[in-house]
Amino acid sequence: MSQPTIESILQEHRLFHPSAEFSQKAQIKSLDEYHRLYEEANADPQAFWARLAETELHWFQKWDTVLDWQPPFAKWFVNGKLNISYNCLDRHLTTWRRNKAALIWEGEPGDSRTLTYAQLHREVCQFANALKHLGVQKGDRVGLYMPMIPEAAIAMLACARVGAAHTVVFGGFSAEALRDRLVDGQAKVVVTADGGWRKDAIVPLKEQVDKALADGSVPSVTHTLVVKRTGQETHMQGDRDHWWHDLQKQVSADCPAEPMGSEDLLFILYTSGSTGKPKGVVHTTGGYNLYSHITTKWIFDLQDTDVYWCTADVGWITGHSYIVYGPLSNGATTVMYEGAPRASNPGCFWDVIEKHGVNIFYTAPTAIRAFIKMGDEHPKARDLSSLRLLGTVGEPINPEAWIWYQQVIGGGRCPIVDTWWQTETGGIMITALPGAIPTKPGSATLPFPGILADVIDLEGNSVGVNEGGYLAVRHPWPGMMRTVYGDPDRFRRIYWEHIPPKEGQYLYFAGDGARRDEDGYFWVMGRVDDVINVAGHRLGTMEIESALVSHPAVAEAAVVGKPDELKGQDIVAFVTLEGTYSPSDALLKELKQHVVNEIGAIARPGEIRFAEALPKTRSGKIMRRLLRDLASGVEISSDTSTLEDRSVLEKLREG
Ligand code: PRX
Repeated sequence: MSQPTIESILQEHRLFHPSAEFSQKAQIKSLDEYHRLYEEANADPQAFWARLAETELHWFQKWDTVLDWQPPFAKWFVNGKLNISYNCLDRHLTTWRRNKAALIWEGEPGDSRTLTYAQLHREVCQFANALKHLGVQKGDRVGLYMPMIPEAAIAMLACARVGAAHTVVFGGFSAEALRDRLVDGQAKVVVTADGGWRKDAIVPLKEQVDKALADGSVPSVTHTLVVKRTGQETHMQGDRDHWWHDLQKQVSADCPAEPMGSEDLLFILYTSGSTGKPKGVVHTTGGYNLYSHITTKWIFDLQDTDVYWCTADVGWITGHSYIVYGPLSNGATTVMYEGAPRASNPGCFWDVIEKHGVNIFYTAPTAIRAFIKMGDEHPKARDLSSLRLLGTVGEPINPEAWIWYQQVIGGGRCPIVDTWWQTETGGIMITALPGAIPTKPGSATLPFPGILADVIDLEGNSVGVNEGGYLAVRHPWPGMMRTVYGDPDRFRRIYWEHIPPKEGQYLYFAGDGARRDEDGYFWVMGRVDDVINVAGHRLGTMEIESALVSHPAVAEAAVVGKPDELKGQDIVAFVTLEGTYSPSDALLKELKQHVVNEIGAIARPGEIRFAEALPKTRSGKIMRRLLRDLASGVEISSDTSTLEDRSVLEKLREG
């Protein structure tokens, strides 16, 4: 099996229509209805979004201006007041949903928990009061470093309830990476757990937090709040650290949701770009609430009785928008699973689907490819007949994996929504609406109503049908990121001035390459910058290079991606050593581990190649394209005439 290539997807012409039965019951029932919505939004975007904000959300106070657009800075629903935790919880309590399952959680060692809307509301209120007890106030930032347990969602909603912004750091990141993010976000409190399950081992999360906070290296943090999950011995430091189960006994369950301004900070989520330092992507309350809500409703076609499961981790944007906020704002039943696909439990996903009667299932191509490899006998031994809709996200899906997903998991009856979006976009941007838009394997299909997506050249002009170009968005949308935390210039430069604005027309530059076919369908080809996508995780090559050169043995490092059957891409690092060091297997292992310590296991290079020198241009720039070709084992396609010293290339070739 291979990754999609331009040639393979150009040959992909299969078209799959939803069944009449699916379409009849769907939120959006036909292509005509999709076109009507798209036209409505196009004709008057502000009226379109205002109509939805009015009908879909509860506001404490209505906005007076729908959009204030001072490119590239947008404000949506100006002067409106709302609280996303109120929209996710309180408003359902006065309806029949009060006793509906809000969260079904499946733990790694086989334990599980179900919380109704009333129960989840109660826990969120208590957690919010515990945060207040630790001094958290409206406007503060709270760091979350959590396993996939209900308290992760509870803590997010509790922050939103008191008006503190959360910054969730994926539990697979190292102490170093956690520290950088806490410092940048100036977090006041860190919420964590004694440990969490990752595949078959326990990760001691609190221990990592201790390392991150050691020697007062994050002066803004005054307290930690620790959830007991795995039960191992855990060091608690004097007045700083508090067990959640202790505080829970002391606090009341009465905590009204703080009225928040539409543009008040809701969360910061760090993501990699082409520069060394991860960016704090800023999302605010009103626009994000609306966008995550309406995309969940229409794309996942939520019906009242559905059990919906998104397999992401809450440490990523997919977990924020499509495990927690989108589904709960809609009053849906959302499943949360602590485990991950692995050879030691090849049926784990299918067990969860069978056990909870999951109807809607949303996962990543990497997981699908891993399951294909584990064998069809595992899904075939389970009852997956409850499924009615499937989704994928995070990376391009190769048509073979798409067809397997459709046939073996979906039994040929479930539409697939291939959803393209990013941390920055807040919610899904290009996707099928499952009852309306016919799908083609490997294409994310058409833009969501209100999204003016385009494929352009570097001058900002639309390219022709089936020509490659850059994915861009021509109009602001409610879920868009507002800025880079603490660095508005960087926001402007990276996303809005990469394509120089013409006559005041700003374009959002996504960093992906794409093509649009004769039906207007988008085919996303992957990143065009120095970002690699390993198993759906986004990693900046510069971050990994910085990690490598921080090791005393490394003089220079260059990191590139190479195609990988399972993970989509894998990391290959070329390093030159300081004079006193020489290549060895032991050093190779040490360097890999060093990257794990600096960033986290997701950034462990698949391969490290020692080199005497790196190929550079006469002006001293590392020729990465050449390294990419070398790493992939393909003919060198790039121009080598600017190479300063041709013998470097020969030596690298010889290995
Ligand atoms: O390259 C695109 C890829 O993932 C990037 C965004 O990564 P992140 O911010 O971590 O968010 C991931 C989950 C939304 C994009 O720039 N990507 C995401 N979805 C798709 C995709 N590539 C192809 N097809 C998709 N459906």
